[in-house]
Amino acid sequence: MRFNQLLTLMAFAFATPSQAQFDRKTLSVSGGYLYSYHFNAPEGDKPTVLLLHGFPSSLYDWRKTIPDLRAAGYGVIAPDLRAAGYGVIAPDLLGFGETSKPEAVEEYVLSKLSAHVAEILEHENLTSVVGVGHDFGAPLLSRFWNYYPQYLSKLAFLAATYRAPIPWDVEAMNNATEAAFGYPIFGYWYFMNETTAPETIIDHHESFSSLIWASVPGMWRTHVCPVGALKNWVETDQIAPKPDYLSDEEYTTHKSIFEKGGYRGPTNLYKAAQRNIDSPNDAMIPAKNVIVNKPVLYVAGGNDDIGRPELAVKAVSDGANSGMVPNAQVKIIEGSYHWIQVQKPKETFETLDAFIKEA
Ligand SMILES: *[C@@H]1O[C@H](CO)[C@@H](O)[C@H](O)[C@H]1NC(C)=O
Ligand SMILES: *[C@@H]1O[C@H](CO)[C@@H](O)[C@H](O)[C@H]1NC(C)=O
Ligand SMILES: *[C@@H]1O[C@H](CO)[C@@H](O)[C@H](O)[C@H]1NC(C)=O
Repeated sequence: MRFNQLLTLMAFAFATPSQAQFDRKTLSVSGGYLYSYHFNAPEGDKPTVLLLHGFPSSLYDWRKTIPDLRAAGYGVIAPDLRAAGYGVIAPDLLGFGETSKPEAVEEYVLSKLSAHVAEILEHENLTSVVGVGHDFGAPLLSRFWNYYPQYLSKLAFLAATYRAPIPWDVEAMNNATEAAFGYPIFGYWYFMNETTAPETIIDHHESFSSLIWASVPGMWRTHVCPVGALKNWVETDQIAPKPDYLSDEEYTTHKSIFEKGGYRGPTNLYKAAQRNIDSPNDAMIPAKNVIVNKPVLYVAGGNDDIGRPELAVKAVSDGANSGMVPNAQVKIIEGSYHWIQVQKPKETFETLDAFIKEA
């Protein structure tokens, strides 16, 4: 063996949890878009887990979750845990990572994204999966259930809750959260809705990235959540301290994925939602598909200013009272901020594993 080949092999063997442990595949879906996704088959008849990332994220942010869930080998982050043997399917969503990035806002409606997810599952012959959605992956998982409930055996929402297919009213959401918590949670949506937001973010990328990962109590409620706060933060190039749970390499890798792909597609997710472009499609969803009659888990970070634990607790009682989500439970991960699966990978794995195993 040549010395160079040996070095390459060693580099793989000792790769830090970066892109190396993904088994990437591609599929061309309707609209002609190319999706990049990780897929590993389960061991025997164990279930397969569908992971849907949020914003600003990608398949990369499941790098600590996939090794512990997947079949074959040993967990990378929690090396005492043998990989659980589950199948895992995890796409880069439209606009993110290595998947296509159309410019038009209308392409990012959740009805279309749900159809793409269904096509990927069909292609892999997956008829039933446990769905997991983090952040904006949660409304997508909700809509995937509404449009294609046949594919989901259980649903887990991280840092967010089930959202019924009703029009988005960001002003009302802000009023309600301001009344409950003293600050409006969704003020940053108005910035996302601006046409030039993608360029503004890239022009101040270090400032934006540092805030995304900030793990300082109350930082998001001051600098992300109120109307105008996030835009002001980046335009004045403020920098938040680096969190202790992210290495410099991980921080840089995450940032470089967005430097390459930009924020046009990713912010279109918010634009499509806030402008209610999907409402005519959502209005056609059969009433029975709005009810989630499968087991539901809400996982909340105790310190998350956006996916607040109180909202998850309330979603459980509201879902039971209305009968819309009759079988939901909540797990709060203390000390965690918004990026639960990145900050608390072991707890995330153990929580999902217990949920998947529950009869
Ligand atoms: C799915 O199943 C079909 C029919 O059994 C088979 O031809 C196809 O190769 C399978 N696809 C994958 C990706 O395994
Ligand atoms: C939100 O609150 C403002 C200020 O009280 C009020 O003017 C507005 O009508 C409210 N909007 C909604 C949608 O509830
Ligand atoms: C979002 O942007 C669109 C297009 O510029 C605009 O028509 C709409 O009023 C904006 N929505 C809000 C709530 O600002």
